[in-house]
Amino acid sequence: MKALIVSTSSPEETMDLGRRLARWLSPGDTVNLVGDLGAGKTVFVKGMAAGLGIDPARVTSPTFALIHEYTGDVPLFHFDTYRLKHPEEWENLGYEEYLRGSGISVVEWGDLVEPYLPSEYLQVKIERDGTQENKRTVEFRPIGRRFQDVIQELGKELQHADTGYRYRYDDR
Ligand SMILES: Nc1ncnc2c1ncn2[C@@H]1O[C@H](COP(=O)(O)OP(=O)(O)OP(=O)(O)O)[C@@H](O)[C@H]1O
Ligand SMILES: [Mg+2]
Repeated sequence: MKALIVSTSSPEETMDLGRRLARWLSPGDTVNLVGDLGAGKTVFVKGMAAGLGIDPARVTSPTFALIHEYTGDVPLFHFDTYRLKHPEEWENLGYEEYLRGSGISVVEWGDLVEPYLPSEYLQVKIERDGTQENKRTVEFRPIGRRFQDVIQELGKELQHADTGYRYRYDDR
């Protein structure tokens, strides 16, 4: 399955990428956002919010609340599972309602609740790139057919973007 791999050089660029992605998503879609502490996951979610007509300044990590809900053109459900101690906490949250529901879900550290994710989702992995402070690699890996289409469209959009993204496809 093809992955789309994009390099960014600033938080603004990572935000812009999140903004562009969000516009290709629909209610009921889930994004599993992975990457080390401080990689830029929340920055990416701010961008997604902007793409849905939500003020990015309202977006903060739901580290203790587990979920923040933002109202935009479509609702954005922003999860952070980092402090989850037991899977039951995730179940008690009523996560199923959110994931299949009326909004777009993005789960920071979604790997920690992987068994609970839908059968199709988009994995976005953010990693530091080399030793340069502001460089990141953002990998979009589709799990399921639906998200292959989404990253195809996103890739086409980047090709025409005047911001000059560096990106490639990975066939593994
Ligand atoms: N290219 C870049 N993309 C994203 N963030 C960047 C980039 N360069 C520098 N940064 C900085 O890295 C930090 C990323 O913080 P952020 O809170 O988004 O990380 P996180 O992955 O959500 O961490 P946590 O696991 O603690 O929730 C910010 O301070 C941001 O300014
Ligand atoms: Mg975060």
